[in-house]
Amino acid sequence: MTELVDAKARDRILSDYETTFFVEAAAGTGKTTVLVGRIVGLIRSGKGTLARIVAVTFTEKAAGEMKLRLRLELEKARLHAGPAERNRLDKALEELELAHIGTIHAFCGDLLGERPVEAGIDPAFKMLDDAAAEAIADQTFERWLQRILADPPEGPRRILRRRSGGEPPHEQLRMAMHALCNHRDFAQAWRRDAFDRQKAIDVLLDELAEVGELASLSSWTDDYLARNLAEIASFVREATRLEAVRGRDYDGLEADLRDLATNRRRFKGWDHKGAPRTTFGRLSRDEVLARRDGVRTKLKAFVASSDADLAPLVHDALQEAIVDYESLKSKTGSLDFLDLLIKMRNLVRNDEKVRKELQGRFSHFFVDEFQDTDPLQAEILMLLAADDHAVTDWRAVEPCPESCSWSVIRSSPSIGFDARTSRCTQKSRGSCSAQALNCFI
Ligand SMILES: Nc1ncnc2c1ncn2[C@@H]1O[C@H](COP(=O)(O)OP(=O)(O)O)[C@@H](O)[C@H]1O
Ligand SMILES: [Mg+2]
Repeated sequence: MTELVDAKARDRILSDYETTFFVEAAAGTGKTTVLVGRIVGLIRSGKGTLARIVAVTFTEKAAGEMKLRLRLELEKARLHAGPAERNRLDKALEELELAHIGTIHAFCGDLLGERPVEAGIDPAFKMLDDAAAEAIADQTFERWLQRILADPPEGPRRILRRRSGGEPPHEQLRMAMHALCNHRDFAQAWRRDAFDRQKAIDVLLDELAEVGELASLSSWTDDYLARNLAEIASFVREATRLEAVRGRDYDGLEADLRDLATNRRRFKGWDHKGAPRTTFGRLSRDEVLARRDGVRTKLKAFVASSDADLAPLVHDALQEAIVDYESLKSKTGSLDFLDLLIKMRNLVRNDEKVRKELQGRFSHFFVDEFQDTDPLQAEILMLLAADDHAVTDWRAVEPCPESCSWSVIRSSPSIGFDARTSRCTQKSRGSCSAQALNCFI
């Protein structure tokens, strides 16, 4: 069999335990295989024990598979091991069910369960799965919606005027609530840039009306571009129909303009180009087309700006519902997946004693599919692997290979079974004294 071009890199991952590795390669090229092989090698050589190893990945399925593959490889390695090595491998097999080989959430759940007082959580905390957490969020959302409906704050008020083009408005608000719940770790207020919505709407309506009027000048009334212009003219007429009676309704117009820009079923003509020979008074088809497309670009820009203007308002208005969600969970002593990560991060970052203890307890970290890690998860892992007990900012952590090491493995965007895309980058600092991460995949 021909040797793989990256065989040396693979061998190093399997034999050099003093170095932190970041491995990046395409799907199916053998990353998890070398991760498992490295864990087995560490145990077999006596340089590491399963109790001091943390190997995490992000889905239950991948975590289950990693554990299964590790068991198989430990069993396989036993068959050809000498007595001392076999003892170590047997011990690892005994410890496997209790080892921290699994999802990062399970890892955090285990550690929080050991230190509920320091973590500030109910010692008998209950884990909420996604469906249970969603049910509580929905309950608090409905309560919030009933409270605000009589006199909604500006953000929800503007959303509630949306009539079509996707989900109904209350569903859009509910989805916003879920999204915000999942990003509770970003507590800062959202930026709201200056945006003169009324002026933008006034200008846009004038321009739409102007371009719409060109329809009547068309040399051929059935021309597709002329039809689109007539559609625009009728939109403006309809949207401003009641203005004489009740004044300009900016919330309604914002919703209508959004509909005009995004509802492809209702406004089909935006892509029509018309016939080259059709003229519009003194204007050629191309000139009219350029004007129509210019207005369309402005319309899209308006939708983007008004959505950006709306987002911080909705964010602020929904905070009440999110506070309610937090309090309902805490009354029942429940934690959702994000709570696990936030509580764990806070514990590791803010409690030096616990941090030091955990840093001493784990000697090697392995992370499979690192591209799926979010900053909060990376923060927890980096702090646990930090060299310096005093460091509380994970960005200051330098992975280094002495008493603890990382292995980080991640899938690269390239697809296929091309082992040549495998890369093994060594990151080590000779001056580093203690901790690092051993394998990120
Ligand atoms: N060096 C290798 N030579 C041949 N097959 C391999 C090698 N390494 C891994 N494999 C096989 O390739 C498949 C994919 O390996 P896996 O480690 O799951 O890839 P990845 O984690 O990169 O997606 C598995 O069936 C594995 O047994
Ligand atoms: Mg894999």
